[in-house]
Amino acid sequence: MKPNIKPKVTLIGAGPGDPDLITIKGAKALANANVVLYDALINRELLNYAPNATHIFVGKRKGMHSFSQDEINELIVSSAFEFGNAVRLKGGDPFIFGRGSEEIDHIESFGIETEVISGISSAMAVPASVGIPLTRRGISESFWVITGTTSERKLSKDVYLAAQSTATVVILMGMSKLSEIVSIFKKFNKNEVPTAIIQNGTTKSEKIGLGTINTIEEVVTKKKLASPAIIVIGEVVKESAKLSSFYENIHSERFISK
Ligand SMILES: C[S@@+](CC[C@H](N)C(=O)[O-])C[C@H]1O[C@@H](n2cnc3c(N)ncnc32)[C@H](O)[C@@H]1O
Repeated sequence: MKPNIKPKVTLIGAGPGDPDLITIKGAKALANANVVLYDALINRELLNYAPNATHIFVGKRKGMHSFSQDEINELIVSSAFEFGNAVRLKGGDPFIFGRGSEEIDHIESFGIETEVISGISSAMAVPASVGIPLTRRGISESFWVITGTTSERKLSKDVYLAAQSTATVVILMGMSKLSEIVSIFKKFNKNEVPTAIIQNGTTKSEKIGLGTINTIEEVVTKKKLASPAIIVIGEVVKESAKLSSFYENIHSERFISK
């Protein structure tokens, strides 16, 4: 460790994509950073809040070296010892499917001070940005946020439980498991439940696919929807003022896309 350097790591949630959806506390902490280690899903405009810091990309980019979680952990620790005030900037909220707590455990095992600044998770912000309320009186009393891909690369078993409930179901990292998800919901007679898929939500490249459990796979193919995307399944999807006309028409005509 260099003399006069006091290592500290602040884990900041960058929000879902729109750079204005970082918290004020997060932006202030970035301004004090000496080094920022950032992920692929974060909006690069946020790095402007830390103009004097060293910026280190540790995400996955096509055709480039992808950092393993162990390599990222080591790099965070060595950066904190070298630069002092290190910021780890992660998409959405760092503690929602973000491995943020694993990083904190590793950093603290070196006796380094840590701080966590929560971010707005895509699980809530992306549906909200297209007007979908995850709860609504008389329609949905709760919501589940589930990963489509567990650490064993399998669909979470919780999808079976959620499909039997009346809750709104929000699935992250679920695009590669969409067929499985659809067949589970069909098994529980949820064929007509409104379903939305929002890719790159809150950003300029946002794409939306609308349908029901029965039609959503066709919509995905037609609109070429892909990750990163959020799948929202539930009656609340048609409560969106922005999307409701689609569901009004669906009764008179068979639409497969917005
Ligand atoms: C590793 S998880 C990280 C989630 C993040 N910690 C959060 O709270 O939003 C990545 C997944 O989040 C979802 N996601 C993140 N940002 C998104 C966005 N802007 N639009 C749609 N889905 C997004 C996608 O399902 C993506 O595959």
